[in-house]
Amino acid sequence: MAEKKFKRYTITAALPYANGPIHIGHVAGAYLPSDIYARYLRLKGEDVAYVCGSDEHGVAITLGAKKEGVTPRQFVDKYHALMKKAFADFGISFDIYSRTSNEIHYQTAQDFFRKIDAQNIFLEETSEQYFDEKENIFLADRYISGTCPNCGHPNAYGDQCEKCGTSLSPRQLINPTSTVSGATPVLKPTKHWYFPLNKFEDWLKEWLIEGHAKDWKSNVYGQCKSWIDQGLQPRSITRDLEWGIPVPREDAKGKVLYVWFDAPIGYISATKELKGKDWEKYWKDPETRLVHFIGKDNIVFHCIIFPAMLKAEGSFILPDNVPANEFLNLEGDKLSTSRNHAVWLHEYLVDFPNRRDELRYTITSISPETKDADFTWKDYQQKVNSELVAILGNFVNRVMVLTWKYFDGKVPSAEEIKPTSEKRERILSLYNDAHTNLNASIKEMNRALDEFRFRDAQFHMMNLARVGNKFLADTEPWKLAKEDMEAVAGILNYALMVVGNIAFACQPFLPDASLSILKQLNIDSNDSKKFWNNGELIEPLKEGHQLNQPELLFRNVEDEDIAKQVEKLQSVKKKKMETAQETNSVKPIKETIVFDDFAKIDIRIGKVVAAEKMEKSDKLLKLTVQSGVDTRTILSGIAKHYTPEQMLGKQVTFVANLAPRKMMGLESQGMILMAEDAQGKLRLVLPDDEVNPGATVA
Ligand code: 2FM
Ligand code: ZN
Repeated sequence: MAEKKFKRYTITAALPYANGPIHIGHVAGAYLPSDIYARYLRLKGEDVAYVCGSDEHGVAITLGAKKEGVTPRQFVDKYHALMKKAFADFGISFDIYSRTSNEIHYQTAQDFFRKIDAQNIFLEETSEQYFDEKENIFLADRYISGTCPNCGHPNAYGDQCEKCGTSLSPRQLINPTSTVSGATPVLKPTKHWYFPLNKFEDWLKEWLIEGHAKDWKSNVYGQCKSWIDQGLQPRSITRDLEWGIPVPREDAKGKVLYVWFDAPIGYISATKELKGKDWEKYWKDPETRLVHFIGKDNIVFHCIIFPAMLKAEGSFILPDNVPANEFLNLEGDKLSTSRNHAVWLHEYLVDFPNRRDELRYTITSISPETKDADFTWKDYQQKVNSELVAILGNFVNRVMVLTWKYFDGKVPSAEEIKPTSEKRERILSLYNDAHTNLNASIKEMNRALDEFRFRDAQFHMMNLARVGNKFLADTEPWKLAKEDMEAVAGILNYALMVVGNIAFACQPFLPDASLSILKQLNIDSNDSKKFWNNGELIEPLKEGHQLNQPELLFRNVEDEDIAKQVEKLQSVKKKKMETAQETNSVKPIKETIVFDDFAKIDIRIGKVVAAEKMEKSDKLLKLTVQSGVDTRTILSGIAKHYTPEQMLGKQVTFVANLAPRKMMGLESQGMILMAEDAQGKLRLVLPDDEVNPGATVA
């Protein structure tokens, strides 16, 4: 991977839907890994365009807006601003954070469509699709839900079952229902345009399965292969919606591009907006490396569908790698925007001011690169306190403090330590060990970064501090100070060099800590390019150079800091449960009775032989019930739940010995038994099979 030299890099991070704030799951999936990679490349002096933006179309937006009672425009404006700010405040170093409702994106997406359309590649087809007659809309994607034909999950969507991951079309759903109105949809003909993915199957097998994806992460390769092995079908790329990019055809009035057609083109539109860069070089020159950072739910779109679209369009480069991550969970439970089970980035930044690196570090060290991972606050505290504070912070601080103590904050002399005593021989051998280990760690860190193994890369970066600490602990300069200041000077000179190298090495992972170390060392980052291209330790400090005062890099996270966060998550859960209980509230159980009381009630099964509405009452039905013994009139308050037609011929369970009661001038000779839930829904209580009228119930 690293051998191939590219002239420039186009790094994309999945465009998040502008339908809610950013949480740590998003950060772990696409944004932090891409940020580390983009920073790494820039540090090496590479030419990088790192682009992202808000995905502002599709059902995620229109349904979200409806729920909040605002227009889609108001909805995306609100979330785009929130997300953009959170990314900037967190230090994600996008060259641009754009949005797909920008004019330039409309043009780019429409041009892309036209170019494929001009080659007659799209298929047009009129077919029957589900339609919600109450809302007057066609039901695609998340507008429709039903039972998954694959796993039986009762709430699968029209585009995908979130339980088993199967990609679906609305017609495959069992018992489909409109998610907008709850109505059972009807079928209605409508015309759409389809991208013939099946025609790209052979090309995809060659380019992806036999070619590129072999070097890609195994989770990515596996998903692509299984998708292609199942056979590819044409994919509809237009929708009957009001919110979206109009399909640029005379005969497509009222149709918009499917969100997954326009969103990835958003990477291109965003690059066009970059000032001072010729966008075409980043998308059309084969010497540009295109890398998509995404979460695993976006794999087929970025590895199969978008490449096939790019191939059909014909003038663009294709992705060279798609390092998709698995998912991050939170405290053992799936992160969820709708359930508010999340650590929201903008809230973290308020609750933990000036502690961006701590979150970056924790997330990278558990990065879900090969399997799902779990973020816990306890773990966060442990990683900050036992690793950032105890290893990195401690090493830098010890070296700084000792240099101030013994050499007035000036870089001491690096005169070669001569092996004039046993002690000195030991120091020299410790120095050699440290040097070998440090260079090996730098090499491993670089290799891991080239291979998108950011967790490993960060571990090797931290090794520099681990080795540095061991070197200090083994050489004990504070003891030597009594007898051999020349040796102390040599040790601290070397330790300071290591600190300088750490300042460069931690730049992609811990940008704030890096700045602080550079400030303490009183150097700028000019040598950083040298470090990142050298692949080994460099010597960034000259003898006699004046350092600044030490400052603490990290502070311990206290128990109460994380207790507050855990409490916050629990209180959300508790509130949800209370609301659920309130909405489902059941009546308390009545006072206990003895069997004899119960035995007094004569409950029977009867059959309705006539049913009519009671005049002047919208609640009562007048039922004529054959009881097996007699035929009687029973008035029942079920008119809002059953029509007379529905009741005719039905079995009913009724109390046969209840004293007759007069209602609306008529005598009711019994009471029909009904089940009533907290929402007031009434259903007949019935035997599960036909029995003869007069059958007793006990
Ligand atoms: O899954 C999502 O959040 C999508 N909005 C990702 C789109 S990525 C790209 F295609 F723009
Ligand atoms: Zn399923």
